[in-house]
Amino acid sequence: MNGLTKKNILKLKQSSTLVINEKCKKLIAEGKKVYQFGFGQSPFPVPESIVAALRNNAHKKEYLPIQGLVKLRKSISKNLKKKTGINYPEENIVITPGSKEAMLLLHVAFNGEIILSAPSWVSYEPQAIIGKNKVHWIQTTRENNWFPTANQLEKKIKSIKKKNIIFILNSPNNPSGTMCKNLKELAAVARKYNLIVLSDEIYTDLTFCNKYESISQYYPERTFISGGLSKWCGAGGWRVGFFAAPNQLSELLENIKTLASESYSTVNSPAQFAAVEAYEGDFGEYKTKTLNILRSVGNYVYSNLKSNKVLINPPQGAFYLMPEFPNKKYKNSTELCEKILDETGVAMLPASDFGFSSKKMLTRLCYIDFDGSEFLKAPINATILDDKIIEKYAPNVVEGVEKLSNWAKNL
Ligand SMILES: Cc1ncc(COP(=O)(O)O)c(C=O)c1O
Repeated sequence: MNGLTKKNILKLKQSSTLVINEKCKKLIAEGKKVYQFGFGQSPFPVPESIVAALRNNAHKKEYLPIQGLVKLRKSISKNLKKKTGINYPEENIVITPGSKEAMLLLHVAFNGEIILSAPSWVSYEPQAIIGKNKVHWIQTTRENNWFPTANQLEKKIKSIKKKNIIFILNSPNNPSGTMCKNLKELAAVARKYNLIVLSDEIYTDLTFCNKYESISQYYPERTFISGGLSKWCGAGGWRVGFFAAPNQLSELLENIKTLASESYSTVNSPAQFAAVEAYEGDFGEYKTKTLNILRSVGNYVYSNLKSNKVLINPPQGAFYLMPEFPNKKYKNSTELCEKILDETGVAMLPASDFGFSSKKMLTRLCYIDFDGSEFLKAPINATILDDKIIEKYAPNVVEGVEKLSNWAKNL
């Protein structure tokens, strides 16, 4: 059957993530031990008071406004103001089924082109293709902590003919686990060229230095912020995200609302009521503990894996690291990941899925193969936990890293 699918959709290809996932399943079915460093989902339980709020609101069956529950939008607005100092009023916030959907609708509505920097999250480019927005890539370097320099951004903008450009920025970053240290400089270039910035802040509550840094602090007038409950409070499956727009970009916000009304209508009501508790409640202790765990496990993996052969930048947030291996004989990073999985049982993703050339032997390592509920019961008050605690509560991570590190020694 030919011609049933639109050309832009045919351009989308299944990601090589699937190759690795299929291989994992096969190995597990054969009874082999697999270290799951591929999949990126919070290991921690949703805080009890938020779960209770969901339970208590399970009977809320009416549709809520398309834009989302007013009380929730007010709480998010207050929360953003507290963290960034910038005012995104509740009228400028839409609640979406995950921040991913918000970004997709932005691409569908937007008439212009997109700047992405490698590494970038896997879904940005496919979403741009769905929205028929051309993508321009900036290749970043390890020396610049895997973020573009202001110079690179300026050069890229000058090479684009279209006036309407969205630059997508994600810090802390999936897949590198690094933070953008030159937000101010990037913001100055953005202002000079009237760029639109989409600041994907889904991991910004998970910074190991405990500071919420957003480009909106330097370029509030044309920065969208997306975020939600998926990472910092472990509620990815609840599908609650938000999209906040500055006044200047309200035209796009209105169109996103229209698209929302013609697609998912509104996010499920009980989860929206529960999300109010997530933004209003005090989760200081939960956040400190989960961050202590992530910071410590990240540093453990970093210290035990980095060598003169395996290059890695230190972990700064989220739950990822991006190790680079020397290339001996592999055609591409997918083949490298397949080989590592075969020979050590360690599953990682090839960085070609994140915008790099497949020739670069970079991988994404996600260090959350542990039981987060159990780990939270451990004595976790130090900012860097003792190795003994990590060995006890994250044995798969410890074992997997040892296997990977020994494997790399023979390269
Ligand atoms: C960088 C990044 N942005 C956005 C998302 C989407 O999150 P959600 O749709 O659950 O809010 C993810 C999820 O994996 C992500 O890694």
